[in-house]
Amino acid sequence: MIKKAILPVAGLGTRFLPASKSIPKEMVTVVDRPAIEYVVREAVEAGIEQIILVTHSSKASIENYFDRNFELETTLEQKNKFDLLKEITDILPKHVSVVSVRQPQPLGLGHAVLCAKDIVGNEAFAVLLPDVLVKNRSSENDLSLMIQRFEQSQAAQIMVEAVPDHLVDQYGIVNVTISPQEGESVAMQGIVEKPAVGIAPSNLSVVGRYILPAEIMPLLENTPRGAGNEIQLTDAIAALQQIETVEAYRMKGQTFDCGSKIGYLKAVLHYGIEHPKLGEAFKGLIQELAL
Ligand code: G1P
Repeated sequence: MIKKAILPVAGLGTRFLPASKSIPKEMVTVVDRPAIEYVVREAVEAGIEQIILVTHSSKASIENYFDRNFELETTLEQKNKFDLLKEITDILPKHVSVVSVRQPQPLGLGHAVLCAKDIVGNEAFAVLLPDVLVKNRSSENDLSLMIQRFEQSQAAQIMVEAVPDHLVDQYGIVNVTISPQEGESVAMQGIVEKPAVGIAPSNLSVVGRYILPAEIMPLLENTPRGAGNEIQLTDAIAALQQIETVEAYRMKGQTFDCGSKIGYLKAVLHYGIEHPKLGEAFKGLIQELAL
């Protein structure tokens, strides 16, 4: 069973400046809660019980958000604000824990994952990149489907979606002989980080959701710096694929790249109109603007 998920949150979020100058980009709110909460919820919905934050000294507010806040709780209780009290104490279900480890140097995503080596031990684990929000289209959670597939096949799962050909150089891209249908996994022939437009093996991009076996850790230890002079998770997955089957899982849901400003605004619109309390009023506002 996959019970642990690594969330690398040490990045400085330069694409999101100035908002991310003095708060972590993961704490920027999408509607009424920080972006990171959506990613944690996605993981919890898929059965994850331990969230491993790979973090940086400037990002303590992320850990604080998932911790209890005794002073605030006591104040809300004394003022009989029980609805608000419930909101802040129910952020995480009781069976879910959050631990954190520091990434001491910004050496890349592969290095960030490696920082959690001792916490994951010998277990397979999930990785969720918090810049990308994944929204279910139906009640089916893609990460959960990847975990089910991993449990049947024992093959690492890499979530992918199609991107326009001119954008392939912004992502990890997989090489597959037959493009998988949505909700399906197929064995991949290779994976490459940010290939140049025109030489990419496909237009299936790595979304930022992975189910990986513990064997990826020693491979990461031996991964030299790659694209952007960073230790790339993609390169270690390419090495894994040389020794065992790695599958590309084509997602059913929708992604929002909250690392980019326009992707963030799109996320606010989509999550805003579905918000149980604010949704109707928010739709009204959008209609007003469209007139
Ligand atoms: C990372 C991964 C890349 C993936 C992307 C998804 O890149 O290295 O393979 O496609 O996330 O957002 P980054 O965006 O951190 O440069």
